Amino acid sequence: MAAEPLTTEGAEASPAHSDHSEPFTLRIRRYDPESGDAPYWVEHTIELEPHRSVLEGILQAKGRFDGSIGIRCSCKAAICGSCGVRINGQPGLACHTHLDKAKRTSKDGVIEIEPMGNMPVIKDLIVDMDAVHWKKVQRVTPWLINKEPIPEREYIVDRESMVDVTQTMACIQCGACVSDCLAMEVDPLFIGPAALAKSYRFVGDPRDAQQYERLKDLAEDPHGIYDCTHCFKCIEACPKGVAPMNQIMRLRRRAGTDYHIVDRNNGERHEAAFVQLIKNYGLLWEAELLPRSYGGPSWFGKFHPAAGQELLSSLPVITKSVLRRKVTPMGALKPHKIPAEDLKQVKEIYETVEGRDQRLEFNLYISGTDENNDGPVSERVEATGDANAEDNA
Ligand code: SF4
Ligand code: SF4
Ligand code: FES
Repeated sequence: MAAEPLTTEGAEASPAHSDHSEPFTLRIRRYDPESGDAPYWVEHTIELEPHRSVLEGILQAKGRFDGSIGIRCSCKAAICGSCGVRINGQPGLACHTHLDKAKRTSKDGVIEIEPMGNMPVIKDLIVDMDAVHWKKVQRVTPWLINKEPIPEREYIVDRESMVDVTQTMACIQCGACVSDCLAMEVDPLFIGPAALAKSYRFVGDPRDAQQYERLKDLAEDPHGIYDCTHCFKCIEACPKGVAPMNQIMRLRRRAGTDYHIVDRNNGERHEAAFVQLIKNYGLLWEAELLPRSYGGPSWFGKFHPAAGQELLSSLPVITKSVLRRKVTPMGALKPHKIPAEDLKQVKEIYETVEGRDQRLEFNLYISGTDENNDGPVSERVEATGDANAEDNA
């Protein structure tokens, strides 16, 4: 429904109208849980220059038409992380999204703005960050636990390690990644992308004394690092290039490969089985993945009681898949095959990666990498600053 202008008296300061202003219609989702009424949409047409932000548009609508619209904001410069919303279904910062871009990505020329997901709504576009986001950040002990003895002056950290954690330090705690995390939709207890990225901030810091304990804790937690389903949503959502999923994968590599933590969730074994099956066959062999994930690669592992239980619980899904011809019984039981030449290429990738003296992990803050450059890693890193520099311009 379209709302009529109420009054301009006492309106919140909003950007001045200029000759280059254009009309933009905002469709804002309104909801007050205390009212008992269902959520509803209102439309307001504001006038601003196209390069102005969606936040400025909302503030103009609030100032000119309806002062009761709930929106949280502070810096208006993509620094404080308080204006996270969904714009045309995608999470992001209202102050960091231009009106013209938002209009282009809308379904019908109307910019749709709603609160972030996975968090309860307090009012309109304001969600309860304490109830979900901050609680999860607190869960990962978000501070450095100093190694002893504490040096008389300062700790010296090598440049490479500092660059490595800089990416996670760019987080402004806006919650955009939490909003659209698919794993969290299914399992609200999942620690989640922002908190796990924060955890890598300390696991990757050579000054931290409890890296093993942190990793063990996150690997053993059923809602921890192995709960992520690699959907990439958090990478797409993050306005600061933190790439939370990549930080979660780093936590897994550190836990599994560096500290050999074999967790009770079978996360480490599942990954190892996955990697080995692709190496052997070039494609995933689903029927073998399950027993190996529980019992490891040995033949006897197939008889692990937990594997049997999981198989039994998966029978309805398997039956449905067979009935719908998504898989054939023989296709599921036998390994899939790819042409010998393709398999050779897959194996070559493994040889290249596994043949390296050290694991190469470059984050988005590092550029100038060259697969064929044989020089030491330290000579090939170059800090570049904000990974979203182009987008932020
Ligand atoms: S990649 Fe993992 S953490 Fe990121 S949104 Fe998807 S499930 Fe969540
Ligand atoms: S990781 Fe990115 S999206 Fe997630 S809270 Fe931090 S800045 Fe926001
Ligand atoms: S108002 Fe601070 S990030 Fe948008």
